[in-house]
Amino acid sequence: GSAINAAAEARGPLLDRVGGPDVVRKVVEIFYTKLYADPRLITFLHDQEMMHLRAKQAAFMSWLFGPAGQPYAGKSMRVAHLRLIKERGFSPADFDLGMRYFEEAMSDLGAPEVIKQEVLRRMLPFKDACFTPSPQDAAEEA
Ligand code: HEM
Repeated sequence: GSAINAAAEARGPLLDRVGGPDVVRKVVEIFYTKLYADPRLITFLHDQEMMHLRAKQAAFMSWLFGPAGQPYAGKSMRVAHLRLIKERGFSPADFDLGMRYFEEAMSDLGAPEVIKQEVLRRMLPFKDACFTPSPQDAAEEA
């Protein structure tokens, strides 16, 4: 389309810009395949309830590809990953690897660079939230 259409599209919902719900579903599927195929990440995932994880992930993905400026309504990233951090040494590098697989999954489906950058920019604050110690940690560990 014209440059004007392109500019308008650039402001539209991420879900539409990435190609709709079917594309997001495929991205998540490829992402999961990559996560579970990784010899390090599988040590955190092998004993998790896959269905439970997928349900959480689905909620997160609708937020991730949803309208800008909405807070994520799920539970604290710190709390969600705390046991993995404390008991199995889940690290920022592991989290980065997960984000890299997500980026790869988007690349595999031909997502444009701007879309990938926006998605990763939206994901990044979760990494800080995940690895910043909180006064609540002691209560969670008890
Ligand atoms: C929740 C593992 C990376 C976002 C969880 C849970 C586990 C987990 C075990 C807990 C599920 C439960 O409540 O029982 C991992 C592993 C990763 C990883 C092994 C390896 C890289 C990421 C990344 C993101 C992310 C990169 C996004 C930026 C979330 C979200 C939840 C979650 C949104 C659900 C929180 C809620 O309950 O609302 N993850 N995670 N995770 N993770 Fe991760």
